[in-house]
Order: sequence, then C-alpha cells, then structure tokens
Amino acid sequence: MSADNKSRGFWATRMGFILAASGSAVGLGNIWKFPYITGENGGGAFVLVYLICIALIGLPIMLAEFTLGRKSGLNPVGAFSAIKPGSPWVGVGFMGVIAGFLILSFYGVVGGWSIAYTVKSFTLSVVDFSHPSEAGNFFVEFTGNPVEATFYHFLFMAICVVIVARGIDRGIERACNLLMPALILFLVVLMVRSLTLPGAMEGVEFYLRPDFSKITAEAILLALGHAFFSLSLGMGAMITYGSYLKQGESLASATFAVVLFDTVIALLAGLVIFPAVFAMGLEPTAGPSLVFMVLPTVFSNMPLGAIASIIFFSLLMIAALTSGISLLEVVVAFFIDQLGWSRKKAAWVMGGVIFALGVPSGLSFGVMAEYKLAGMNFFDFVDNIASNYLLPLGGMFTAIFVGWVWGIKSAKAEVEKSGETFRLAAVWGFILRYVTPVCVALVFVAKFLQE
Ligand code: PHE
Repeated sequence: MSADNKSRGFWATRMGFILAASGSAVGLGNIWKFPYITGENGGGAFVLVYLICIALIGLPIMLAEFTLGRKSGLNPVGAFSAIKPGSPWVGVGFMGVIAGFLILSFYGVVGGWSIAYTVKSFTLSVVDFSHPSEAGNFFVEFTGNPVEATFYHFLFMAICVVIVARGIDRGIERACNLLMPALILFLVVLMVRSLTLPGAMEGVEFYLRPDFSKITAEAILLALGHAFFSLSLGMGAMITYGSYLKQGESLASATFAVVLFDTVIALLAGLVIFPAVFAMGLEPTAGPSLVFMVLPTVFSNMPLGAIASIIFFSLLMIAALTSGISLLEVVVAFFIDQLGWSRKKAAWVMGGVIFALGVPSGLSFGVMAEYKLAGMNFFDFVDNIASNYLLPLGGMFTAIFVGWVWGIKSAKAEVEKSGETFRLAAVWGFILRYVTPVCVALVFVAKFLQE
C-alpha cells in the first residue's frame, strides 16, 4: 500500500525540511535534560561519551529512518509494512506510534512549564529569588497546583494541535523556519551573557574537561539512551519527516546537518547553564529541576536577569514546541495514512487523547505524588518506559531491519536517488548490521545485571 502523497503534503524546501527535522531533534532533551544529566554524571567525560554515541549510533540510525521514510512515503507502521508486507516488522512501527503517544503525554507537561515560566518571567515572579531554596519552593508550589499546571499543559498541547492541523508546509515548516533561527540567536546571546559572569570559567572547566574516573556503566547507558531521545530516534519521527521529502534531496547531507544542529545546540545549552551555575556558586547536580530552580536564582541575581529569563524560557518553549509537533505528527500521520482520517480530525482527536493521558503525569508533582507504579510516580514511569525501553529497542530494530531485512543494497539505492554516490555505504551497513544491535543489546544486558 502506498499513500497518495499529494494529499499528504511535502516539505516546500530542503532548508524547511532540515529546520523541521532539527526542530524535532532540538528540544527539552537538549536544553533541559542534557545539562542536568551532564551535571549529575561528572561533566566533561559524560559529554565525550555522549558525543561518541551520537557519531557512532545516532548518525547511522537517523539516515536509516530518513531513508525508510522517503522510500515508503508513509508513517512508521506503513513504512515497515510497505517494505516487508505481512511481516511482524510492522510491530516496530506500532511501537513507534505508541512511543509518540507516551512521550508527548509527559513532554507536554514540561512544555507547559516552559510556557508558564516564560509568562512568569514577564511578570517578574520568577526573577525574584535570593536563594535556590526559594526558587525551589516556587517550582514545587507551581507544579503542585493542579489547576494552573494543567492549564499550561493544555495550552502547550493546543498550540501543537493547531500547527499540526495546518499540515506540513503551511504549518510545521513555516513554524520551524521562524522558530529555529530565533532559537540559535537567543542561545548565543545568553551564552555571551553567561560566559562573561565573574567566575564563569570554573563552569566551563567542569563542563569541558573530561575526568575519566567519572565514567561508569550507568553513565554510558544514560548517554546512549539520551542520544536516541535527543535525536528523536527509535520511534519513527524521522521516518515520518522523511516521508514528506521529495525524491531529489540528498539524505546523507541532511542527516549530517540535523545531527550537527542538535549537537551544537546541546553543547551551547551547556555553555549557557554551567558557567552561570558556577558563577553563582551553585551545585550542578540539582537534577531535573536544574533549569527551573537554579536558573531563576541565577537570573534573579545577575544584571539584566529579567531579560535573560524571558529569553531563556521563550527559547525552551520554542524548542519544546517544535519537538512536540513532531511527536504529534507521528501519531497523526498514522491515523491519516492507515485509517484514512482527515488531518484536522487526527490532530484534534489525538491531541486531546494525548493531553488526557498526560494529565496524571502533570499531577505527579502534586495531588498524585504518592501514586506509584513500579516505585515511580506516573510521570517518571511513562518517561522510563518510553525513553529507556521503547526508543533504544525501536532504534535497534530499525537498524536490524535496514541492515539485514530490507538490505543495505536497497537502502543505498534509495540514498543514491538524489544522484550522489554514497561512498560511506559500507561503513553505514556495518554499523547498522553489527555495531548498533550489539551496543543496544549490551545496554540492556548491563541494565538487567544492575537490577
Ligand atoms: N528530540 C526531542 C528532544 O530532544 C524529543 C523527541 C523524542 C522528539 C522523540 C521526537 C521524538 O527534546
């Protein structure tokens, strides 16, 4: 089965595609999660392991996903069944759609916080802290307030739905064309501000000087898992975005651009956060609250802090939106291609369902804090299943599928449809067939042994 691409839509320009795919990759993963897990795992050495995972595993899988997407012109479920009809491989596609549901459900909650903190930066209520404990109390009070937090969560989801409902080139592409350049500009401005604070260099050193004694098995697992999350891999987001590509575009160079974009933004985010944290004499190990508790304290105590806060949280919001859009698009494309729904209906109905699924995640910081599943609150439980299991498994199966089932020859032929010769095809094939499956399997074995 092949979809009628005219009614599905296409990216209008190559740049639009690259910005949209970068918009998917660059998100809370880069600006919120990457700095705090780096902070918790010793800084520079963790950054290095992460970069190795990106180059060795992230790049090849992203190319595999784009290739599958463009070849089939379909959502992940359609893509696997178009290439291997009637086989159990379609299950990998379903896993991806389910991961999209789950990730967006909790992602939308944090996305809502980013909108709230942007609004609260304008009213100056998040730049009024003399000590991190005050910012901490504010954060706990805000996230614990079911009405307010749910309202912002709703707002975030509604924006995603409106953009996705408008379609590929008129909705997603236009939004990303505007939002992504704004993101880079804001980050660079903030980095300069942060690096020129007195005492900033200590943070730079923590961030960039590797201390190899800090590299544990757990840190490696985390780095690998985060490489998937940050590049939006393992759940078919890049299959879906690849499916809106016209035949002539070069997949290899687009892959390279997106990976580079994502990595540069993560590294920049670290250069915004760590110098500021150290300049204020704070600890980099605050965890998930690093951005929401530590940074407002930093902003409260520096010149031009209110403006920095507005810039920072708008940026977080922009990054979260362009990723949330891609998560929703995976689910919406599935309902359009496989079940024949209209785009509008799929966006609104599924956006609503995902919002509802996310409400208990949002309440995990307040009224549902005591409600535990496998020892975790609802938010962490959903995050754990999706990010630590579904994504790496999805990535591994995608690599095996392209490397062994569809075959490197056919995949290479698809890459070369742009007219270029893909010289690294042999390396690509080797990585997809051996390196990725073995690495991911090792991660699961190590995880299993640890537990
Ligand atoms: N890559 C996004 C981020 O870093 C999250 C994401 C994961 C988006 C999977 C789409 C698919 O925030």
